[in-house]
Amino acid sequence: MKALILSGGKGTRLRPLTYSGAKQLVPVANRPILFYCIDNIVNAGIRDIGIVISPETGDEIKETVGTGKTWGARITYILQDKPAGLAHAVRISKRFLKNSSFVMYLGDNLIGTDIRKFVLDFEKKRSDALILLKEVDNPKQFGVADVRKNGTILRLIEKPENPPSNLALVGVYIFSSKIHSAIDRIKPSTRGELEITDAIQELISTGHHVKSFVLKDWWLDTGKKDDLLTANAIVLDEWGRKKIEGTIDKASRILGRVSLGRNSSIKASTVRGPVVIGHNAVIENSFIGPHTSIGDYARIVNSSIEHSVILSGSEVIDVERMEESLIGRRVRVFRNHRHKALRLMLGDDSTVEV
Ligand code: DAU
Repeated sequence: MKALILSGGKGTRLRPLTYSGAKQLVPVANRPILFYCIDNIVNAGIRDIGIVISPETGDEIKETVGTGKTWGARITYILQDKPAGLAHAVRISKRFLKNSSFVMYLGDNLIGTDIRKFVLDFEKKRSDALILLKEVDNPKQFGVADVRKNGTILRLIEKPENPPSNLALVGVYIFSSKIHSAIDRIKPSTRGELEITDAIQELISTGHHVKSFVLKDWWLDTGKKDDLLTANAIVLDEWGRKKIEGTIDKASRILGRVSLGRNSSIKASTVRGPVVIGHNAVIENSFIGPHTSIGDYARIVNSSIEHSVILSGSEVIDVERMEESLIGRRVRVFRNHRHKALRLMLGDDSTVEV
């Protein structure tokens, strides 16, 4: 069994973060989403991993992930010259996949379920495809399954106007090599992409064995502020652990699971976990509350922050109370005691609540 992670795509800006980086590298609890995908694949015993990258963000992904040695895995990068669809990404990866079965994992998906049991079920039942579904409130934004009471799939439709159910396709699939001939038989959709949903529908229509499971645990779509904050809180709750590499002075109190990176310092502050603080960060005379992630080289002084994500190199100074906030890289937030009015410099797609 191999794995194929899709980390190409348009490389568009991730709202509301105002930088045009790869969305798969957005950090949750200070680790890129993509790392959690690799963890899950490796935990399922798969070591041969292909990562599909785009010309725009491929170098950033290669640099961040590397050879896979950290995970004891071998990573092969596959360049997709244009984002022509998920099935197109599989088609161009044929040389890597050969005739092997594979897990296909969308690099911007974060799920709270271990995929090992699905891999075992797929191998035991010799299915041609295994898909994961999850009940959602907004099925129009996803691939949607029309399912019989006994779990058999009648039909799959990509982003339907009138969804036949609220069961969305989660971005983790397992395929046998039969998927390749199904992809060869489909045509691009109205949005101009070769859809994997259509290829799976083709397998169903031609009588192949497609199995589905409905996920009970969380699945997160991490595109928006609240989704990202929720993902951060859940990951800190479930996987956060106590690990202190930096220094904490005597005047500080550390409660619960707090992780503090190397060369970081906490002075005259209280930190209540679960919290993760990266390396080379400074927390001074402040309160850091639960469900907060603070990136490398950040500086928090005379402030109180909770349930927030502060990315690397940002500063929060003299801010009495900040909560449910998402702060990008190299942002400065500070109180100016000389001015009563707000004085702002905000990038594209920003939101300010006062
Ligand atoms: O997140 C689950 C949904 O993912 C499913 O419910 C849909 O059925 C499925 O089509 C997909 O929909 P999205 O519109 O969210 O896919 P998106 O374009 O965001 O791409 C998902 C990932 O795959 C992302 O990491 C970028 C990568 N990608 C995408 C395309 C179109 C590629 O690597 N190459 C591509 O050509």
